[in-house]
Amino acid sequence: MLYDVPVQLGERSYDIHIGAGVLDRLGALCAEAGLKGKCLIVTDENVGAHYARPALESMEKAGFDACMVTLPAGEKTKDKQFLFDLYTRCLESGLDRRSFIVALGGGVIGDLAGYAAASFLRGIPFVQVPTTLLSMVDSSVGGKTGINLPQGKNLVGSFHQPALVLADLHTLQTLEPRQYRAGLSEVIKYGVIYDGAFFQTLEECVGKLPDTGNVELLAKVVGRCCEIKADVVAQDEREGGLRAILNFGHTAGHALENAAGYGEFLHGEAVSIGMVYAGLASMELCGLSSNDCKRIKDILQALELPVRAPSYDWKELRGALSVDKKTVGGMPKFVLASEIGTVSIGNEVPEETMEGIWHVLNE
Ligand code: GLY
Repeated sequence: MLYDVPVQLGERSYDIHIGAGVLDRLGALCAEAGLKGKCLIVTDENVGAHYARPALESMEKAGFDACMVTLPAGEKTKDKQFLFDLYTRCLESGLDRRSFIVALGGGVIGDLAGYAAASFLRGIPFVQVPTTLLSMVDSSVGGKTGINLPQGKNLVGSFHQPALVLADLHTLQTLEPRQYRAGLSEVIKYGVIYDGAFFQTLEECVGKLPDTGNVELLAKVVGRCCEIKADVVAQDEREGGLRAILNFGHTAGHALENAAGYGEFLHGEAVSIGMVYAGLASMELCGLSSNDCKRIKDILQALELPVRAPSYDWKELRGALSVDKKTVGGMPKFVLASEIGTVSIGNEVPEETMEGIWHVLNE
């Protein structure tokens, strides 16, 4: 079973292939996409323990001269030291301008390996093989690559579209349940920002969503998220406008991650709280009905995602909101919804309202 979603970007167009048990197709799909020569597969210790061998075998079977580098798992790997080590590995492995990189893992590996590909020899092709729900529905699609600096996340990076994306849904079965649930938060986001009917479908099957073994449902859900992301990216590849809708829930979410020191909350968990915050702000400023606002909170709660953060006081949050890289002149910009399925970008929220909502959220 392979479900394909095209990302239409002119000469940078590519396909997202989604299926269950499809990792052994990796080599054949790379060949079909016109990739040739040597390749370096980049993975982490957790993912590599399960999937390094099948990925390597698939590449070799398709005639590629493939080698593998395994990095430590976790956000700390997305830094300049590991990036420079990767360049060294590229050189030692004999990669040239016709070679390519395969990112086998979650968002950290995808962003790091993607940025290595974007910058090594001024850019070589790369392939995304996302193995977390978050990376399948978000970070592997759309070409954002980069690393963190000590001063903040994703402060160095570039847009570099992959040559293809292959999402094997079976890899979700070895993902920690908490990580999987956090990925569901981004799934809910797609319904709110783009597709009210999809949101309703998610409500109807909410009890089944935590089951990583339900691959038929997962294929539909991941497929719809990828279609939405592909549609948005095709209209606005470099986030000149529309693409910013993907940041619904991320303004308060990023601030919370920052205030909490990137340890307490997984990204998707912080986004869950951020979406409830954005829902309340949307009710105040954009005419979102109280029923729609409640539906957002209810579905997140039904998925056992956090919807409040009472241990953080407003001053901490407000400080973190000011340093967000999307904040201009100290005033954060919010994506707000007028109904489920329709949002607008670039909204400012008056100071008092911003604070009041934080208190309502945590009541
Ligand atoms: N993760 C948001 C984006 O790709 O634009």
